[in-house]
Amino acid sequence: MSWKIPLFKIYWDEQDVKNVTQVIRSGMYWAEGPNILGFENRIAEYIGAKYCLVFNSGTSALHALFLAYGIKQQDEVIVPSFTFIATANAPLFVGAKPVFADIEEETFSLDPEDVKNKITSKTKAIIPIHYGGCPCKIKELKKIARERNLVLIEDAAESLGARLGGRQVGTFGDAAIFSFCQNKIITTGEGGALVTNSRKIYEKLKLIRSHGRLEKENYFSSIKTSDYITLGFNFRMPSFVAALGIAQLEKIDRIIEMRKNNARYLTSKLREVKEITIPTIADDYFHVYQMYTVKVNKNRNELMRYLAAKGIMTKIYFQPVHLTHFYKHKLKQSHRLPVTEKISRQVLTLPMYPSLTRKEMNYMAQEIRGFFRRKR
Ligand SMILES: Cc1ncc(COP(=O)(O)O)c(C=O)c1O
Repeated sequence: MSWKIPLFKIYWDEQDVKNVTQVIRSGMYWAEGPNILGFENRIAEYIGAKYCLVFNSGTSALHALFLAYGIKQQDEVIVPSFTFIATANAPLFVGAKPVFADIEEETFSLDPEDVKNKITSKTKAIIPIHYGGCPCKIKELKKIARERNLVLIEDAAESLGARLGGRQVGTFGDAAIFSFCQNKIITTGEGGALVTNSRKIYEKLKLIRSHGRLEKENYFSSIKTSDYITLGFNFRMPSFVAALGIAQLEKIDRIIEMRKNNARYLTSKLREVKEITIPTIADDYFHVYQMYTVKVNKNRNELMRYLAAKGIMTKIYFQPVHLTHFYKHKLKQSHRLPVTEKISRQVLTLPMYPSLTRKEMNYMAQEIRGFFRRKR
């Protein structure tokens, strides 16, 4: 389907093309190569973390973290159900059990009070997400994790560059992951990264990422025989992807500023529509608007279809994970997640991207107003 206004558009420039082309033209280092470390160093510096590793997706970064922290069968991990399914799947990758906690209405992320309710003697970790570019209640969650001696992994897939009280998300937990899938703040098509301050975890992760191979030199350009000291995967990011990531990261401040300006403008256009609730956050929250999600009090699905007919793409982020076919039939737990279920009936994510124009936003607002006028 071709949309007049899609949900997202990728922000790219000639530097992206140049960086990728350079790697291709070199005829070397398309897999491992200097751009990998280059991208990792730049991310670590941007976030303010000691170590960074890049992966072929945010999901494989999460998977690797679960292995590195030794989370295994019989362990429980507290996750939101209001998330992309990969967050909840990560414990299952290592045979552990995802335990869903409810969310709070302010940031749509894990409710610290309900997290406390869900902790048992088997709980090993908590994985909050920072929803759509908005920091979650990470300080409260960090306090709980410290008190109960639990690993805190931030799923910041959607929120690179978001800050809380001036501090980057991804620096609060024991580790954090980011996604570079095409609808994220910066993108490499597919790709992911993780950051941590733990040298021990970082060393483990390097082995897990690449076949358990002890690497002192580039495997592909060294005559030395490698040793394999643990079970590992191939979770590696290709070099030209990292080169693209470097060019994208160079633009991140501009990208975020454009997103924030657009969000501000759209908010000014939608503020008067009493049937919807626009995103609002506290002053010390630096929201980067990977998504612009409103709550629609009534007729949400009808509005979505109406806007689709006008060429405007919207989407429901998220349908609860615990209500998907897989989770309903696989885990067979009983869930009491009233806020998750209520919010997922109300949310509608509107188009939001750096190059979204005022004309396009005026059109969106005009159609939303028009829809509700007809309903009154
Ligand atoms: C909250 C969240 N976690 C994890 C992921 C997984 O990232 P990836 O698609 O890079 O595997 C996503 C991606 O959409 C996400 O939104």
